[in-house]
Amino acid sequence: MIGLFDSGVGGLSVLREVRALLPGADLVYLADQAHHPYGERSLEEVRGLAEQASDLLLARGAEAIVVACNTASAAALRALRDRHPGVPFVGMEPAVKPAAAATRTRVVGVLATPTTFQAEVFDDLVGRFAAGIEVLAHPCPGWADLVERDGGGVDPEVIARHVRPVVEAGADTLVLACTHYSFVAPQIAAAAGDGVALIDPAAAVARQVARVADGSGSGTTAFLTTGDPVRFAGQVRRLLGIDAAVEGAAPA
Ligand code: DGL
Repeated sequence: MIGLFDSGVGGLSVLREVRALLPGADLVYLADQAHHPYGERSLEEVRGLAEQASDLLLARGAEAIVVACNTASAAALRALRDRHPGVPFVGMEPAVKPAAAATRTRVVGVLATPTTFQAEVFDDLVGRFAAGIEVLAHPCPGWADLVERDGGGVDPEVIARHVRPVVEAGADTLVLACTHYSFVAPQIAAAAGDGVALIDPAAAVARQVARVADGSGSGTTAFLTTGDPVRFAGQVRRLLGIDAAVEGAAPA
């Protein structure tokens, strides 16, 4: 069984790709909605929450874990691997490397939560893969909340307010470095205009999951939330078109 978690619905964008690639895998998805948003908490707090979420998924029988959240990956991936050395963990990281390879203006924009930019991981990636490239780190506070509330129907003007300055500064490539942002990719693309490429790493992460995790099983998907199960069932229906029974979960 493969476990995935996020602070809320964002990781469903990764779940969707994992399911497409591994139709037979048994998946269990935890939305830690009682603690949403992760992206405006301290790195220490997010690390503690990520440990709780992982413990819960392991207790449910997960044998591999996808940290389907950039913020939790930035804050906790290393600690999670140290804590559970036998468990394969797949995390998200801002796709700075492919963006640096793709840009022609030599300016790329990275859209993420404020906390993701505070972690060392981000500066490391820029140092390793973006020599000579201007990387505009653009926090988008509030976006994950809006996606929780409005799904893919977030007001395009709210999105455009963040996207325009990055494009006006010369970026021709935008990295979606929060899993919630996949659901507003159409608004981001519309605000960015023609000639600006978006990079969403969800499919690449799913390929990594297929490399390290056992994809055999009966193709079941269990949905858990630490928040309101009825609300989360509605969100899953709206975002993935799946009528799912959602269980309530209290983190261990
Ligand atoms: N989906 C999460 C991410 O990828 C963060 C959303 C939040 O702020 O909780 O960073």
